This record gives sequence, structure tokens and C-alpha cells, in this order.
Amino acid sequence: MKMLPLILCLFLSTAALLQAHPEKEELVVPLGLPPVPWPADNPYSKKKAELGRLLYFDKRLSSDGTISCGTCHSIPHAFTDRRPVSTGIHGHQGSRHSPTVINSAYLKSYFWDGRADTLEEQCKGPIANPAEMTAIGDADKAHEECHMRVKSIKGYRALFEEVFGNDECSMNDISKAIATFERTVLSGNSPYDRYMAGDKTAMNAEQIEGHQVFLKSSCANCHSGFNFTDGRFLNIGVGMDKPHPDPGRYGITQHPSQIGAFKVPTLRDVENTYPYMHDGSLQTLEEVVDYYDKGGIPNPHLIPVIRPLHLTAKEKKALVSFMKALSGEGWQHFKEPEQFPQ
Ligand code: HEC
Ligand code: HEC
Repeated sequence: MKMLPLILCLFLSTAALLQAHPEKEELVVPLGLPPVPWPADNPYSKKKAELGRLLYFDKRLSSDGTISCGTCHSIPHAFTDRRPVSTGIHGHQGSRHSPTVINSAYLKSYFWDGRADTLEEQCKGPIANPAEMTAIGDADKAHEECHMRVKSIKGYRALFEEVFGNDECSMNDISKAIATFERTVLSGNSPYDRYMAGDKTAMNAEQIEGHQVFLKSSCANCHSGFNFTDGRFLNIGVGMDKPHPDPGRYGITQHPSQIGAFKVPTLRDVENTYPYMHDGSLQTLEEVVDYYDKGGIPNPHLIPVIRPLHLTAKEKKALVSFMKALSGEGWQHFKEPEQFPQ
């Protein structure tokens, strides 16, 4: 009987908690994806995601008002920019291809070399990058000025007050809102997902064959799991024949085994995220398949699983078809804001 007060107490406190969050909001994800892993210090709310969408597309976050996140990760281009390497402020060319934001909610690290651990941290990168959104050389100063520009807009102050309980418009809160928006940009319910869920007509015969080719060609060694990436950094040879190859992950860890190693990208919606690879050097999925078929670009750090595959023309075609079965839905429903806070 001693337990009774305790149980009663637990029951009452749960009821109180539920009352405190009567409309605890949840994001519904498309078929084939697990729930979005929301960080404890930045949970989902619809209002925060909406504020994030405004900030994501607002060019006033850049130092001269010409560039937004959406410039290089735009909706019609499946949240990339269709360029081999990105062009930022004052026409500055970066050295890497813009990866898609789609399903970035599920990644373990960000950038091709994994130098950011969270989307919140990632977001601060481009805002302080002189090749992307700022003409200011010093990162702290670039962030401070971006924060001041947002704070100077009355409409934003009101929205930050509503979402964060203060109208400071701090860089941390800007990043939290943008990251929340990004975590809602998803792709699932593809023919592959419907096929795997039991609808055997969802993929055609060629795509089913392509799935077999994908498995037997070791593609799934690295492009594994629901998001088709295991999150590792590997050298598959891309760009290693250039006079000065991009060091990739080695630039972060200084570990010689990671020279020329890049993060395994997701293959979801890969049909729409061309051109491909960290340097945007391959234009089509056919070119990607040919690249793997020849065994990549030989170099001392090439991972051994990348070796000539000797696929037939029919197998190559099937493999491309299979990758197109990974085109899903979710991200297409977004629209750029028609107007911004004033
Ligand atoms: C000038 C073009 C440009 C702008 C503007 C830009 N990005 Fe990017 N983004 C890139 C490029 C290029 C990379 C890859 C850079 C690297 O790996 O070193 C990248 C990487 C990313 C990634 C990592 C994805 C992954 O798979 O690891 C995310 C997320 C992202 N950007 C979001 C944003 C957000 C949010 C903003 C606005 C605050 C933004 N980007 C502004 C070009 C841009
Ligand atoms: C050893 C791990 C590994 C294997 C095996 C592998 N990949 Fe990859 N894949 C990667 C890495 C790493 C990249 C990025 C490389 C870069 O940009 O330098 C990549 C990039 C890609 C891309 C470009 C995606 C984009 O958004 O740019 C496609 C498409 C792709 N792989 C398909 C395949 C297919 C098809 C197979 C099987 C024939 C395969 N991969 C086998 C690791 C692997």
C-alpha cells in the first residue's frame, strides 16, 4: 500500500506534463524513414521550422544582400545548385559541390569532410565563409554582423520572441531555426520504399534487377541503411588525378589513411542532385556507374573494395534505373517565401 501514493504522484505529474504541452507537435515522416532525431536542446515546433524557412531563403543574411542558403541549395534543384562547384558572394567560386539538404536530418556529420557535427554548427559555416555569404574575413565579426542585420528587422524580432522567448535574434537561435527547417526537408515514400513495404509492383523489372546489381557490386557496403550512407569517409579516387587533389577528411584529422577521403553521400533523390561527387566532376548517373565499373581512379589511398566491376551494358542500365527508384517525396512540397519579415 506504500506504493499507492508514489503511483498516484507519478500519475498526477505525468498528467501535469501533458497539460503543460497540450499540443506537443510531431512531424510526420514519409514511408521508409525513421522519426527525425530532434536534438534535446532544439526540439521541433512548426513555428520554429517556419521561421527557419524564412531565414533560409532570406538574402539579407549575407553581407551584401545577394545570397541566401537557398541560392546554393534551392528547391527546384532538389536542395543543391546544379553547378559542379558553388558560386557565392561577388561571384567567388568554392572548390566543392553543394550537397543536398534533403534528409540531412539523419546525418552524423556535415560537409564533405565532416567538419561539423550538427546542423546548427554547420549553418554558421556559410554565413562566415568569404566564398559564400560574407565579404568579412573574420568569422566572429561576420556572425555578429549577420545577427545585427536580422535583429534590425522588426518583423524578425517579433517572430524570435514568439519562438525563443526573446528577441535577441542571436546567431545560436538563427542556427536553431534554420536547422529545424532543414530537418523537415525529407525524401521518402519512393518506389523503393513502397517495394520494400510489400508493394511488389512499385519497382519495375529493370529496377529490381538493378537492386541486385547494387548489392552484388558492393555499393551497399557504403551506401547502406535507410538513407543509403554509412557516414564513413573513404577514398574512392575522385579527383585524385588532379595536380593538387582536395585532401578531404585528411584536412580535418591529419590521418594519412584519410587522404582524399570524403563522406559517403546519401543516394536518396540522387536522380535530381546532379552533378555528382565532392567536385561535381560527374554529370550523369551513367557516368557514375562507368566510374565505378572501371574501378575508380587508382591512387595509393584507394579503398580496395573499389575495383573494376566488369558489368554488362544491361546491368549498368539496370543500376541507373534502380537509383532512380530512390526518388521520393516530401521536399517538393516546400515553397520559397513570397515575402519576408520587414
Ligand atoms: C555559395 C553557395 C552556398 C551557400 C550560400 C550555402 N551553402 Fe551549404 N554548402 C555549399 C557547399 C559547396 C557545401 C559543401 C562544402 C564542403 O563540404 O566543404 C555545403 C554544405 C552544406 C551542408 C552539408 C550537407 C552534407 O551532406 O554534409 C548543409 C546542411 C548546408 N550546406 C546548408 C546550408 C545552409 C543552412 C546555408 C545558409 C546558412 C548554406 N548551406 C549556404 C554551398 C553553399
Ligand atoms: C567504398 C565505399 C563506396 C562504395 C563501395 C560505393 N560508393 Fe558511391 N560513394 C562513396 C563515396 C565516398 C562517395 C563520394 C566520393 C567523392 O565525392 O569524392 C560516393 C559517391 C557516389 C555517388 C554520387 C552521389 C552524389 O550526391 O554526389 C553515387 C551516385 C554513388 N556513389 C553510387 C554508387 C554506386 C552505384 C555504387 C556501386 C557500383 C557505389 N556508389 C559504391 C562511397 C562508396
